Amino acid sequence: TLPRVYVTRQIPSEGLKILQDSGQVQFELWDSDDVPVPRKELLQKVKGVDGLLCVLTEKIDAELLDAAGSNLKVVSTMSVGFDHLSLEELKKRGIRVGYTPEVLTDAVAELTVALLLATSRRLIEATHEAKTGGWGTWRTLWLCGYELANSTVGILGLGRIGVAIAERLAPFKVKKFIYTDVAPRPELAKAINAEYVTLDELAKQSDFLSVCCALTPETKEICNKNLFSKMKNTSIFINTSRGGVVNQEDLYEALSTGQIAGAGLDVTVPEPLPTSHPLFTLKNCVILPHIASASYSTRNAMSALAANNLLLGLRSQPMIKELKL
Ligand code: GLV
Ligand code: GLV
Repeated sequence: TLPRVYVTRQIPSEGLKILQDSGQVQFELWDSDDVPVPRKELLQKVKGVDGLLCVLTEKIDAELLDAAGSNLKVVSTMSVGFDHLSLEELKKRGIRVGYTPEVLTDAVAELTVALLLATSRRLIEATHEAKTGGWGTWRTLWLCGYELANSTVGILGLGRIGVAIAERLAPFKVKKFIYTDVAPRPELAKAINAEYVTLDELAKQSDFLSVCCALTPETKEICNKNLFSKMKNTSIFINTSRGGVVNQEDLYEALSTGQIAGAGLDVTVPEPLPTSHPLFTLKNCVILPHIASASYSTRNAMSALAANNLLLGLRSQPMIKELKL
């Protein structure tokens, strides 16, 4: 009999078609994109499966892996982020893990630039003013923001996405790119002529600080009071990685006291961020509902890569993109 697979979301058609046409698996899926599979149902559905294709709303932890049992060989996530996976537990059980880097780099970089400009040039506030009668006359300092020309852009965590963001920002006449990471990454930095600095210097020098690192125990709440207090009060903070890298109370404080000029967030803790959250009351905070990779072509490519990773893993072949555990 064919290996059994559970798919935790109604993923885009390209990925589903690959699973269907493979003739290699029998799969069942949570047939909705609007709500995640309830945890209780998920724990039932994974019983005895050989493979799991998940998205980032599912916590793949010891409880779930125990519920699945010893048939489970492959977990394939339709995401580049892997903070929803307990890597230690997966490794312990010899389960292989696929993920979807690279196919989303362009989409995430584009959205990051859009969010940066929306925040620095106050686009959301501006459309609101135009629509609601705030547009009394042309005014000399009304809705002024900060420009990229002659600025210093700092990247926290230089990977492919950070490089892709810098490549797109360079034509805006950025003066200087700086970055920090656990160690210098000269081969990546060279492509964008970025200088390696400490986290402290990154905070002090950046006019725009863009967070592009993975969420790990080392980066959890790395953006906190200490960091914000070193930033210029004209600086813009952008996060398209994971909400967990930011201490949101400290960010609220920095934004509401004018310690920094603005923030653009595509990711928060929790997600969705409750509509009553204090960050939503701030004009200088632009919040998006985790859409950085949300283009039709990229989401389809992610689903296809996740499906192919799964099928390869089930055949005990090298995946296209496999996490080293
Ligand atoms: C999205 O956040 C992803 O990790 O792919
Ligand atoms: C992370 O995976 C990146 O592409 O930067």
